[in-house]
Amino acid sequence: MKRRDFLKSSGALLAGGLLPISLVEVAFGKSKHENFTFAYISDSHIQQIKGNQFVRNFDTGLMRAVAECNMMDPKPDFVIYGGDLAQIGNKPELDHGLELMSACRHKVHYVMGEHDYYLDLGKYWESQLGPQWYSFDHKGVHFVVLNSILVDEKWVNKWSSGEERMGVMAGLDNPLGSPFMVGAKQREWLRKDLAKVSKDTPLVILSHSPLQKIYKGWNFWTDDAEKIQALLKPFRKVNVFYGHVHQIQYNQIGNISFHSVMATAWPWPYPSTYSQAASQLPKLTVEMNRADPFFERDATGWQFIDVWSGNATMHFQLPENKPRTVAYDKKNKRPEDKDYQAKKNRIPPQTHY
Ligand SMILES: [Fe+2]
Ligand SMILES: [Fe+2]
Repeated sequence: MKRRDFLKSSGALLAGGLLPISLVEVAFGKSKHENFTFAYISDSHIQQIKGNQFVRNFDTGLMRAVAECNMMDPKPDFVIYGGDLAQIGNKPELDHGLELMSACRHKVHYVMGEHDYYLDLGKYWESQLGPQWYSFDHKGVHFVVLNSILVDEKWVNKWSSGEERMGVMAGLDNPLGSPFMVGAKQREWLRKDLAKVSKDTPLVILSHSPLQKIYKGWNFWTDDAEKIQALLKPFRKVNVFYGHVHQIQYNQIGNISFHSVMATAWPWPYPSTYSQAASQLPKLTVEMNRADPFFERDATGWQFIDVWSGNATMHFQLPENKPRTVAYDKKNKRPEDKDYQAKKNRIPPQTHY
């Protein structure tokens, strides 16, 4: 059967919307991009109180996210875990977090968070989960996982113990911390990895910190962000997904769409409403609706990501809040939450401290 005949005979199905066009193309083996979805869970901060006692609220957030993933229809092809599985990153916390994750019926790819890392510089995490950065291909999309929470050697070695180092890094706004980066070694690996990929291939980059500079005071920041963005620039479609910020964020810089993934543990408020300090560069280019900083589950939850076109569509399930969808707008060339672009639909920023 010729391609034209096949399309004719399947025309009724196409019109009825029962058969995605991408599947027709796959039938001829010509499509590089098959429709698929993946799920993302992040920032559970599993925290040991003592012995086998863990903070129940954080356990519950993760357990519920895993249960939702298992019940999703269509099934996600895989799950990304976005980092900060543990709070201080010791063996009991990582073991307990991984045990809760073991209920997940899908293949999980893990990203390193600073709370998983700074106690032993990622050694135990690596022994359980493998390399801290890697890439893989899936249905025509090239995925890259980065460890974006590294800092310079001098800072790493200046503490008397791993506990002390983690104690400093685990605070949101501790001035003794150090800005995150991907670092020269990993950037060189990324350059080599991307050299093998055609510029038409959609890229999905998974990191823990945002690969952009949002707010240095809270380390919503990657110090070598511009260098990473330069490596991604030659590609036609790039999506970066990151955890760490515990809130909904999205942005567009050149060809790169940025999306945060929510935490299952707790939300952080939006730093830009607290201070208009000069360090907040670049300005977010897409206006976002504000989450409620007084509600402990707002801007936490789980989301479902659809990237079959090379652009991400993010579906947010928000407890006690309207579900939201952020999709790429072809005309404006950026991700937008359509419901909240009109001024009258937006919740005004608050001026509390
Ligand atoms: Fe976190
Ligand atoms: Fe983090």
